[in-house]
Amino acid sequence: MTERISNRRPETGAFFRRDLNSHPPAYAPIYKTSVLRSPRRALLSLDGTLSEITGPVFGHNILGELDNDLIHNFAKPGESAIGPRIIVYGKVLDERGKGVPGALLEFWQANAGGRYRHKKEGYIAPLDPNFGGCGRTITDEDGAYSLRTIQPGPYPWPNGPNDWRPAHIHFSIFGHGFAQRLITQMYFEGDPMIWQCPIVRTIPDRAAIERLVAALDMEATIPMDARAYKFDIVLRGRRSSLFENRLEGN
Ligand SMILES: [Fe+2]
Repeated sequence: MTERISNRRPETGAFFRRDLNSHPPAYAPIYKTSVLRSPRRALLSLDGTLSEITGPVFGHNILGELDNDLIHNFAKPGESAIGPRIIVYGKVLDERGKGVPGALLEFWQANAGGRYRHKKEGYIAPLDPNFGGCGRTITDEDGAYSLRTIQPGPYPWPNGPNDWRPAHIHFSIFGHGFAQRLITQMYFEGDPMIWQCPIVRTIPDRAAIERLVAALDMEATIPMDARAYKFDIVLRGRRSSLFENRLEGN
């Protein structure tokens, strides 16, 4: 199965334009660092070049056995990370609802106390010696993925006088072209901190926020082990040759 995925020729062709209405504006003063880093001039839209509509192809052979298991991938033998054990699973889809096979997902997160393993981290919560906080996986033929981890804690950050991030997992996704690259965050169903967060509040559309919230899925839970959260991720889709051919044929 692995070889079939890595040998598959990815689709090529132009992508749909991004729907900017469901993305946060680049300039959002409640999220302080956006003020300096946002462009001052209107954006220009250019056609995608070959280096944007194509991208690297990842085979499953680059993965280590524990790469998608954050409970164990940094832990000493026989030990495991501290925190509520969870499974996160879902599909990577394109805008036509088609699964994206062979997509590389990288994820990183704070530990159960809300602390990152990073030299610039300033939060007083302790490090967990058995938790590194990052991992990766590749989607299967249907675009499905899963990972095991511990539920991260919320943490404070220097934005306003008392701003906190809700519990979240960061995701970076490589699809089949650099124009599909997506970096996003996943939140947890029922977390009241989501609606307090200045970063979340830069997203103009409530439905777009809800697409970032993973649903608790008791059906996929492993009894006496881990609860499960379902999180589907939508990348930019190709303007498919099917639609274009139909137009040309008319
Ligand atoms: Fe974070």
